[in-house]
Amino acid sequence: MKKFSVVVAGGGSTFTPGIVLMLLQHQERFPLRAIKFYDNDGARQETIAEACKVILREQAPEIEFSYTTDPKTAFTDVDFVMAHIRVGKYPMREKDEKIPLRYGVVGQETCGPGGIAYGMRSIGGVLEIVDYMEKYSPDAWMLNYSNPAAIVAEATRRLRPHAKILNICDMPIGIEGRMAQIAGLKSRKEMRVRYYGLNHFGWWTLVEDAHGNDLMPKIREHVAKYGYVPSADEPGVEASWNDTFAKAKDVWALDPSTFPNTYLKYYLFPDYVVAHSNPEHTRANEVMEHREKHVFSSCAAITKAGESSAGELEIDEHASYIVDLATAIAFNTQERMLLIVPNQGAINNIDPEAMVEIPCLVGSNGPEPLTVGKIPLFQQGLMSQQVAVEKLVVEAWVEKSYLKLWQAITLSKTVPSASVAKAILDDLIAANKDYWPDLK
Ligand code: NAD
Ligand code: G6P
Ligand code: MN
Repeated sequence: MKKFSVVVAGGGSTFTPGIVLMLLQHQERFPLRAIKFYDNDGARQETIAEACKVILREQAPEIEFSYTTDPKTAFTDVDFVMAHIRVGKYPMREKDEKIPLRYGVVGQETCGPGGIAYGMRSIGGVLEIVDYMEKYSPDAWMLNYSNPAAIVAEATRRLRPHAKILNICDMPIGIEGRMAQIAGLKSRKEMRVRYYGLNHFGWWTLVEDAHGNDLMPKIREHVAKYGYVPSADEPGVEASWNDTFAKAKDVWALDPSTFPNTYLKYYLFPDYVVAHSNPEHTRANEVMEHREKHVFSSCAAITKAGESSAGELEIDEHASYIVDLATAIAFNTQERMLLIVPNQGAINNIDPEAMVEIPCLVGSNGPEPLTVGKIPLFQQGLMSQQVAVEKLVVEAWVEKSYLKLWQAITLSKTVPSASVAKAILDDLIAANKDYWPDLK
């Protein structure tokens, strides 16, 4: 069986060790000959990489491992680029979340003005990685889960239309895992779904088992009472995520014939979200205090002891969708997966040039999107508005246009008025001066 060479871009990410452990678990179906890490923050990456070096030496000494901040070394001789960068890191995420909250507006990593601010930082960083890949390994594929995926995907559609890049999100996978549990199945892989929307903005219209039996009535009964919170205790789920899964009950009520993506709560219940936010302590603070601290201290302990038992790193099994995607391309599996792809008529009453999240069959030549057809007016209206926001952000970045970014923030359903949008924008510009283009 062929063995593959992978570079993880954003080697210093909190998710990197869990993904490495997951890749090791899946060597039988996706064998590796080399793993490289690339990051533009050498010190951050080193802490993660030195611990991964210990793990790889213990579990798979035959896999060549290295890490670097040099693009040529990183991107030469690779088959896949797995990209999860966060331009500006957590301190900028914190600003994305806190600045809108000053004005009583949703402060979130990927939704509303915070997501727009993050998008304005991410576009350049992700394009740079696409360009390194095309320069040093032109046959490679980039599997991107850097956020905000919707804006990043629109930017690559518009600015690198021929690049071999696939944008994917783990939220539908997480929700489907919960649906499977609610339906009494062992795995979401025993289900077949239909879904349409934008990234962090979509609806399931069909959930059935392998025999074609409709699972929606059973799941619906549960969602109507508890949202996506399963009856059995889910150990380790943080309170803030649990709230989001529970709130899906109210989001669902707006269209009980479907099941919603959890992130719709930010657009449909922004007043509730703001009322339940602490403007002094947001999700970025939680992540810095918990996940980041835990992963970095575990890595340091592993490196110091020279053995993996010294830390408590957990395998990120739910990230195995990345292996599903890589094997689909490597071995032409034609697996059905939700990807963020150009609409091109799949949803026939949405802009053909929108980037939509829909089921695709994935093989060696990339994704083949499945037809969705005509969607109802409620979803069409919401999606068209959000597509315009995402397109305006990319236009603002390309044209360095203050006006277009103001329009984008104004148009976001999370923002009440153009004057509030302007106040937020002006604060975001000051906070992002090291990352955004100079807006005219
Ligand atoms: P993190 O800050 O721990 O890691 C990101 C890393 O990217 C950092 O080490 C940083 O130095 C590096 N980086 C930033 N800009 C870079 C650049 N231009 N070139 C190379 N490296 C760069 O963040 P995290 O919380 O671990 O998340 C990483 C990313 O994965 C984020 O974009 C996050 O939103 C995304 N994510 C996506 C999904 C999904 O469903 N699509 C799920 C989880 C996380
Ligand atoms: C989900 C989303 C990701 C997002 C993440 C944030 O997995 O699909 O796109 O980055 O949540 O999680 P966090 O724990 O960093 O708040
Ligand atoms: Mn996501």
